[in-house]
Amino acid sequence: KKRVIIDTDTAGDDTISILMALHYFKVEGIMITGGNVQFHQQVENALYTIQVGGKSGKVPVYKGHEGPIMGFGESQHRTVEDVHGKDGMGDSFFEKAIQSPEEGHAVDFLIETIHENPGEIHLLAIAPLTNIAMAIKKDPAIVPKIPHLYIMGGTNNALGNITPSAEYNFFVDPEAAKIVLHSGIPITMVGWEMCTKYSIMDDNDHSEIEALSTKGAQFFKDVNKVVMKFNKSVHKLNGTTHPDTLLAAVAANEEIMTESNLYHVDVETVGELTRGYSLVDINNRLERSKNVRVCEAIDRSAFKEMLLEVLRSID
Ligand code: BDR
Ligand code: CA
Repeated sequence: KKRVIIDTDTAGDDTISILMALHYFKVEGIMITGGNVQFHQQVENALYTIQVGGKSGKVPVYKGHEGPIMGFGESQHRTVEDVHGKDGMGDSFFEKAIQSPEEGHAVDFLIETIHENPGEIHLLAIAPLTNIAMAIKKDPAIVPKIPHLYIMGGTNNALGNITPSAEYNFFVDPEAAKIVLHSGIPITMVGWEMCTKYSIMDDNDHSEIEALSTKGAQFFKDVNKVVMKFNKSVHKLNGTTHPDTLLAAVAANEEIMTESNLYHVDVETVGELTRGYSLVDINNRLERSKNVRVCEAIDRSAFKEMLLEVLRSID
């Protein structure tokens, strides 16, 4: 199994992404970064998710940066309890997890693990990129030792979710996104538009999942309660969205990515209305280095099959 470290702001879809990663990868550790809900709640959510996945005590959880590197103006760090529930878990208010977080800082854990295992540790980034950017700044020597970084973030069609132009993970910490995108690490990006095109689970999909009657299926139902309502009222989407799970699926099986291309990708940090906007230079107008492989199409039924397999296996 490929070895990965996950960087997450654990709430809602992050949890299912973690379960998918636990299923398909050897997860060396989970780092928490500021994002979706209150930081301590995200730590709890990650620990509880590991428990649901049956891996308590086997996957360390490290606390990282609680907020963005800078964070100002339009993009002050904003939590999104309206999307994922007050607890980030669909207002399920689960019991406290049996595992505790580790003592050290996530950034130091990342740097040490990469140096000890050069070329071995793939990264799954499903949150604002603060921790990864800070690790690159603290010790740039890690860069050539990271074989691949998979990022859920940005959009490739200029339609954001937290603002009209910005996707949440890039919006919360655009400076971090900029550092990471230009770091030289080989990157695959799965943007918000992939999520709305290929990851939506409607009522029929939910019934199919419920029919699995496993602990995993019940957990899926619980954590998705609030986002189902939010998507209908705000995004006019008929179902739940699974950006982070899509990212884990692509990383686990690149074959489900039916179209992808290398482009120059950058992020807006100074725009009055567009802070966090991701620029994908599809027609190479800027003639700059092609730094990111952008996912452009996904085999939806293959993705759904992977999701079902994961939820079926958790019982
Ligand atoms: C991203 O924002 C978060 O709310 C989700 O977990 C996902 O990582 C989608 O824009
Ligand atoms: Ca996330």
